[in-house]
Parts: sequence; structure tokens; C-alpha cells
Amino acid sequence: MCGIIGYIGRGQAAPVMLDGLKRLEYRGYDSSGMAVVGESGISVCKTEGKISRLDEKTDGGKTLVGFCGIGHTRWATHGAPSDINSHPHLSCDGRFAVVHNGIIENHAELRAMLETHGYAFKSETDSEVAAQLLQYLFDGDVKSTIRALIERIKGSYAFGIIFSGAPDRLYAVRKDNPLVIGLGNGENYIASDVAAALAHTHEFVILGDGEIAEITADETHYYSTDGKQIDKEPYTVDWDITRAEKGGYPHFMLKEIYDQPKALTDTVRPRIHEDEIDLDGITFSREYLDGLSGVDIVGCGSAYHAGIVGKQFIEKHCRIRVDCTLASEYIYKNPITGKDRLTVIISQSGETADSLAALRLAKKLGSRTLAVVNVVQSAIAREADDVLYTRAGPEIAVATTKGYTTQVAALYLIGLKFAITRGTITKKRYSALLSALSDLPDKVEEQLKETPVANAHTYAEAFSNQHCVFFIGRGADYAASLEGALKLKEISYVHAEAYAAGELKHGTISLVEKGTLTIAIATQSELYDKTESNVRSVSSRGGTVLAIASRENSKVRAFADGLLTIPDCDDDMSPVLTAVVLQLFAYYVAFKRGCDIDKPRNLAKSVTVE
Ligand code: M6R
Repeated sequence: MCGIIGYIGRGQAAPVMLDGLKRLEYRGYDSSGMAVVGESGISVCKTEGKISRLDEKTDGGKTLVGFCGIGHTRWATHGAPSDINSHPHLSCDGRFAVVHNGIIENHAELRAMLETHGYAFKSETDSEVAAQLLQYLFDGDVKSTIRALIERIKGSYAFGIIFSGAPDRLYAVRKDNPLVIGLGNGENYIASDVAAALAHTHEFVILGDGEIAEITADETHYYSTDGKQIDKEPYTVDWDITRAEKGGYPHFMLKEIYDQPKALTDTVRPRIHEDEIDLDGITFSREYLDGLSGVDIVGCGSAYHAGIVGKQFIEKHCRIRVDCTLASEYIYKNPITGKDRLTVIISQSGETADSLAALRLAKKLGSRTLAVVNVVQSAIAREADDVLYTRAGPEIAVATTKGYTTQVAALYLIGLKFAITRGTITKKRYSALLSALSDLPDKVEEQLKETPVANAHTYAEAFSNQHCVFFIGRGADYAASLEGALKLKEISYVHAEAYAAGELKHGTISLVEKGTLTIAIATQSELYDKTESNVRSVSSRGGTVLAIASRENSKVRAFADGLLTIPDCDDDMSPVLTAVVLQLFAYYVAFKRGCDIDKPRNLAKSVTVE
């Protein structure tokens, strides 16, 4: 989705903002722009397409001169991607420039009102309304004008604002859309995402809903909605900037696949102390768990798929009923929840609009909420009753990899904690699973050795011209197949569908013809024979089968055209290892097809609109 970076300091703003915009590219965008304010007013440069075009148009930022500015990457919602629709937007008198993330819901009404007052709009965007409204409402004081602006606007927003009458000041305000203030030495930043400013500072302040920041090179002042000055505590982001860089890999996605042993180690191991799990001090008493009528897991995309793995694991070991629901469905289904249900919201970014809305609804209805989130201090992390961070580090590629596997690992921790607290698991099985979970990073490391990676690469190349791929599996393998199909389709644009293996014969098998590729996941010993018979029915109809199985359980090879193995592991842990194989497979298919792997078309990393 859209990204914001703003700078004020003693250096030229535009080159710093260009660097910040490049670091925001991963969020997905179709145009970009910058505005700087100097003694002679505001200058703007914006363009459709890649940031490299903005770079060229401004000669690396040199042609925009000024120490204070705002920059933006736009992901089109209202109006096609074009130079004119890109941000920043200028007010008619050229005195205000605005960048905006979010959606102004009452933009049509505001636009009509402004047009009757003679305001001529240049773009089709909802965002331009904010720039024109600032001019219309201007009362001589920028802060009170911003307050008047947000009183008129309905919807979600993060705004960066500059004003020609105050070239030494940068303004920001937000509601339901992320925005942080980065604190530097003699320079300060605004950013929709810490990654944009992490090269300059690790100290950030989060603006609350409706709060206004007035920022100079040396000072930051914060104001509540009613105009009172307030204090805000900064927090430190301990992510190393190199973790948000490619580090020699051709793509962030590949780098993040290889980050997984560390990400899993950081997520799991510090929380296991001998035979005890410490969920960062979050307590779930036996009485509380026994009193639950069920658990709701809610998320979007891969986070939802992690939830399905978690649902199966928790139901199996804790004997608590778990419903896993897509956040976009949860918020409109009039959910049955309350004190007797725990709602677990899963989100890598912690800013996904549907997941945030689901969290708020669950809280409003009286449910306790637990967030499983990666980005520290993100909206979902801040608003949930409890948060268990996944500690994957920054994830830049749009396709989640380490974000997903660490979510699954966190759910294993939660499930095991619940099971031992409720007494629904034997001590022996608990210890075995705990040790399997602790070993998981090493198994992933093994999976990322040369030979398994080369095998995934070879099969991916061989099957890269497929138009449609089916993924099948049962139980935990079905959960893994959902994620495998999503990974393949989102980055390689190959149509991919996941089916519970037993469902094939209820319709889908009619699509299997000579050469159709089915990826059959068969890692669950108890279900192995059943999946094997599904594999046979595909191959006997001329379909091509690529199987995924553990080494000790790889007799499916006899009925398949190819086999990718995962290291031997406890069956309950296999979804993580299967995910790694399928990530590699998807990556190499997309590579062979020449796709833009880190920034697939039409997709954004963090979906901050409903
Ligand atoms: O940041 P979140 O975990 O809330 O994001 C949820 C989905 O948008 C995300 O998992 C998406 O499906 C990924 N592109 C999948 O790779």
C-alpha cells in the first residue's frame, strides 16, 4: 500500500526521501512523488511508475532544493496510476502540499463543496481534497487548520503536510493508518513504516489517532485532538538496517527464506526454559482455559493459513474448539463471541485493516484478545490485550515467508502452553513436541542446504510453464497446501488451488488431464495411505504428480513423477518444513517466468484499507 517519508533537517530533503522511498518500495506502489519547501515556496516532482523514474526526473533529488519535504509511494485506489494522481497534492494556491495514506470516505461531498467555492481539482484522487481543504480552512495557524481538517474528514488517514509559510516545519497527523516520527540528531523524519527511516535512526514515536505532530529539525511537539500539547515517549527499534537489505541475495524473498532458521530460533528458543514455556509473561490459567467455549483465530492471507495450522494443532492437543476465520469475513458475520472466547489475531505487519477491525470488534464484544504480530508497536500489537511477537525481523518481500513460519511456530508455543496447562497432553508427548519445536530451526537449516534447494530449483524449472497447479493434502498437509498455493499464485501468476485431498473426487478431479500438475503433500503418517491413493487416482488419469514427503516416508515416490523431501521430523512440525520447500518452489517458478518476485503486480505488503 502507499508509503510516506518526510524529512526536516540541515541536509537536502529530497535525496534522503528518495532513499526512504526506495526502502518503501516493497509495500507495493504504482507511482511516487516528492515535494520540498524552501524560501521560494513548494516545489513538486511526481511520476507514474518506478521510483527510478523519480530519481531520474530529479537527478537523484538534486533538482528539488529544500531542507524540509514529504515523499510518497502511491498504490492507486481512487483514480488510475498517473503523474497527476500521484502524491504530493498541492492546494490551488500552491501553499500546502499533502501526502496521504488511507481513504477519505466523504471525499465526493467535500470535493463538490470545494468546487462550488471555485476550487479546481487537478486529480481524480480522494487525497487532493485534503490539500484543497487546508487552503479553504486556513485560519493563519497550521495546527488549528489541521484540526479543522480532521474534523471534516471521514475515513482513515496518515497525512504528511508542508506549508510554504513555514519552511522550517513539517506536520503529521494520523487515524487508523500507521505513521511514526523518527528522531534524529538535528534532523527528524515522518514515515509510514520504520524501515523508511531506519538507516538514520532507531528512535521512534507513534502518533495516536487524531494527534498532530509539529516537527522542526531539532524539536518535535505533539498535540491532542483538542489542541493541548502532550508528551510522547519514544521507543527503540532494535532491528538492524542490514536485516532490511538484500545482503547479496538477488531478491528479498530469497534472503527472507534463508533468514528462517534465525527467525525461528528467535521466536521459539528464548521462550522455552527446560520444560517450561514462557509466553513473555502472558498468563492463561487453567480456570480461564477450562472456562473457554472456544478460541477464534483471525487473520488474512498467509496469516489465516498459519491460523489453520494453529487450529488443527490446538484442537488436537488442547481439546478446545477453535474456529479460524478470515478477518474480512469475521467483521461482517456478526460473530458470536464474548468473555468465554479468546480471539487470536495474527498479522505480520500488525496494520492489516481487516485484522485490526476484527480485533476491535472482538474486544468490543467482550472477548480477550491475543495478537501474534511481528512489527513491534504496530496498531494490532498496541490494541490487543496481550501480544506475542514473532521476532522474524523486518520482512520486505510482499510474499511472506519467515513471517508465516514464525506465526506457525508461535501458535505451536501457544498450543503447547494451553495443552500442558489444561492437562490434555501427556508429559511425555509435551516434552517430545517441545524438543521438536526447539529443533525446528535446525531442520529448516538442513532444508536450506544445497541439495534440497537444488532439487526444488530443478522441479520449479521443469514445471514453470504450467497454467494451473493443484495442491493437495490431508490434515496438517491440507493447511500447508493452502499456503503453498497462495505462494505460487501471488508471485508467479500461475493459477494454483489447494484442495483437501479427499475432496478431489468430489469434483475437481474432472480438471485433471495429461500433464496437469498436482503437488501432493504427504507428511502425515496416519493419513499417508489415504493421500497415496489420491496420488494414484491423479496419475492414473494422466496427471503429473510432484510429491512432498519426509525421507523416512517417501514410498509415495513410486506413484509420483517427482519427489521433494523434507527432513524427518515430528508430523506436527511438518507444515513449517513443507512451507520452506513450497516457498523455494514458488520462488524458482517465478524466477524462471521472469516475474517481479519481491513486488508482484497489484499486491501490497501491508493492506491498510478494508
Ligand atoms: O501483515 P499481515 O500478516 O496481516 O498480512 C496478511 C496478508 O496480507 C499476507 O499474509 C498476504 O497474504 C501475503 N502477501 C502472503 O504472502
